[in-house]
Amino acid sequence: MSSNNLDTLYRQVIMDHYKNPRNKGILEDGSLTINMNNPTCGDRIQLTMKVADGIVSDAKFEGEGCSISMSSASMMTQAIKGKTAEEALKLSRIFSDMMLGKEYEDDLDLGDIEALQGVSKFPARIKCATLAWKAMEKGLQDDGQ
Ligand code: FES
Repeated sequence: MSSNNLDTLYRQVIMDHYKNPRNKGILEDGSLTINMNNPTCGDRIQLTMKVADGIVSDAKFEGEGCSISMSSASMMTQAIKGKTAEEALKLSRIFSDMMLGKEYEDDLDLGDIEALQGVSKFPARIKCATLAWKAMEKGLQDDGQ
């Protein structure tokens, strides 16, 4: 696929997650709740996760933000569900490397996340893309995972 076609495909994937977000909402009972905002614009996310026996069994998000931040949250919740907390944190490191334009490991299924790799060319938008991931990292680390 030419890089133009790939860009178009990635843009479609991002807009699909923005318009039809996966895992939108709030989990009740026994969930980790993390609120985080992007200080540069004030956009915010509330992430709730259920973690039992070291497995992220469910994750949902609410928030207000740009298409990059909201689509990234949608992709992130999709990617971590059913993963161990360790794998979820590894995905976050992979995503961070991707945003920094570094080589990244791909031994875990990245799913739609790869559609965001073009964000690395726009440093001002990296905080948008990583907002939900920082929330997930904080939740799992505070939970002692
Ligand atoms: Fe606020 Fe993207 S402009 S998170």
